Amino acid sequence: IAQHLYLFQDFWYPSNFIEGVINFQKHFQAKDSDVIVATVPKSGTTWLKALTFAILNRQRFSSSHNHPLLTSNSHELVPPLELIFHVDNIQDKLSDLSNITEPRVFGTHVPFPSLPKSIKESNCKIVYICRNPFDTIVSLWIFANKNNPLNELTIEETLEKYCKGIVGFGPTWEHMLGYWKESIANPNKVLFLKYEELKEDINFYVKRVAEFLDCPFTEEEESNGVIENIINLCSFEKMKNLEVNKSGTVGRKYEKKYFFRKGEVGDWVNYFSPAMIEKLSKTMEEKLSGSGLSFKTSP
Ligand code: A3P
Repeated sequence: IAQHLYLFQDFWYPSNFIEGVINFQKHFQAKDSDVIVATVPKSGTTWLKALTFAILNRQRFSSSHNHPLLTSNSHELVPPLELIFHVDNIQDKLSDLSNITEPRVFGTHVPFPSLPKSIKESNCKIVYICRNPFDTIVSLWIFANKNNPLNELTIEETLEKYCKGIVGFGPTWEHMLGYWKESIANPNKVLFLKYEELKEDINFYVKRVAEFLDCPFTEEEESNGVIENIINLCSFEKMKNLEVNKSGTVGRKYEKKYFFRKGEVGDWVNYFSPAMIEKLSKTMEEKLSGSGLSFKTSP
């Protein structure tokens, strides 16, 4: 049974998100120190949330071996998947949010035009990540099948829907272009990242995110290996193998273990037929040409 999607403010939402998104728009009060991790689903949300949290909170753990990302028994020490609220996913918890230690970090899949006013009007920052559509489709298809074995869509059908824009938080083109344009118009507000670029040079991008969030690494931190530490703690292998990420569910009953599959660039070659490659390449050309936005599709 395919997931029901509803068109809301020009984007397709899974039906069980609508209420949360409306609550988010109506009630969320951004603080200037907030950081919003905005993403296309299956594009590196889990990774970027962990990196952002680790970068912002590095002082709290740099002197101890008990990194908050590795332990699980207090509010600040919860594992990455629960660490950061998906603000578009919460029903009645908005009032609790004011008690979170600053700087608060929130995740969202909501497209730029539909973000709450207070996010746009405050000085809070947005880090955005997306990924080449080839790998995103494979990741999405496998994730949907694992979480919902009754999902009867083939990968070809998933591709068709993706190209028509009818996937959760789609059209993905519009999602990416919304944040892309904003990052150009307002580079201090939105940092636009791509999964492939982080895979290629994570050291550079950890520094870039820290600078963007106005907390650049000191020379001392650099020479003490703080950056390497963060990269290592947030790596695919490390996060996948955390006990806390191996069982249980998160958000709307998504199995945590399914958030860690392969973590590579270019795995799509194992799934795409020539016809699928042609279809997606054509659609991307049509949707993205002239925008300046392009993707690497191999490592
Ligand atoms: P694959 O399915 O291609 O392996 P999201 O977090 O937005 O749901 O994206 C999930 C994708 O990111 C999955 O891709 C997953 O394996 C990958 N991923 C999860 N944690 C990662 C990490 N720490 N580093 C790199 N990739 C990661």
